[in-house]
Amino acid sequence: MDIAVIGSNMVDLIAYIDDMPKEGETLEAPDFKIGCGGKGANQAVAAAKMGSKVMMITKVGDDLFADNTIQNLESHGIDTEFTSKVTGTSSGVAPIFVDQESKNRILIIKGANQHLLPADVDRAAEKLKKASLIVLQLEIPLPTVYRAIDFGCEHNIPVILNPAPASKELDFDYVCKSDFFIPNESELEILTGMPIATDEQIKEAASILLNKGVKNVIVTMGNRGVMWVTKEKNVKVRSEKVAAVDTTGAGDAFIGCFAHFIVKNGDVLMSIKKAAAFAGLSVTKRGTQSSYPTREELEVFITSRT
Ligand code: RIB
Ligand code: NA
Repeated sequence: MDIAVIGSNMVDLIAYIDDMPKEGETLEAPDFKIGCGGKGANQAVAAAKMGSKVMMITKVGDDLFADNTIQNLESHGIDTEFTSKVTGTSSGVAPIFVDQESKNRILIIKGANQHLLPADVDRAAEKLKKASLIVLQLEIPLPTVYRAIDFGCEHNIPVILNPAPASKELDFDYVCKSDFFIPNESELEILTGMPIATDEQIKEAASILLNKGVKNVIVTMGNRGVMWVTKEKNVKVRSEKVAAVDTTGAGDAFIGCFAHFIVKNGDVLMSIKKAAAFAGLSVTKRGTQSSYPTREELEVFITSRT
């Protein structure tokens, strides 16, 4: 087992809109797309598409979305032994609005994801112990995230923590135990209370986390690129210029692809570059997981840009 993702799955209901309706108003939108999403599942699928062996610990509801979600994970070769159904609960869903400038607004209704508990981590212990990396986000209860971080520490398994969506309640003692802390710029702003408008400010905000004990802070900044900050150094990787049509799930694309390469070769900078290209390609297509490129498409893209 290369990677264990302990996290969320959602069904993305994406409306492509010209305008947001005002209160009491009915507006027509030009297009709609339904697809598999959720930050955890997106990251698991991205890593699996790159060729990693991935297991996913997650919960679905008992509605018409549940089997489809499990089938989708399995179609990518993801181990779903610890993906289970919660009766009497809906699956996680995410109504998403993408405007003409490709900017998105996302609502999440967590549903069954709320039922992923610390005991579910322990139930998977025998298999989880074999993972080379644990990947976490914040669409499941925080105690479950904390249990997974402790599990990683107990078994010497490195942990990626993606603090998305940002939660002010996130306990910094746990943040510090993660090996790679990967927020986007607005999550960094919310978590540190620092401004993030310039690269200097991003570095300063990241250094607060480094001083508290985090080893690597990797800040994804959309078309501004990616900043990797450690106590010793900081490196900025520029993002590829692409024609963006839908940025939904680009951050997850980055994390899943980064997870794959960091397990395969341990080279942080190289993994960031691959992941930035992978995420860049994903924004050129509509949808979330459905916009993630294949390994071949990624290599062709990277070669064409160098
Ligand atoms: O990060 C994008 C994801 O956030 C979407 O797939 C949606 O499901 C929400 O979880
Ligand atoms: Na996309």
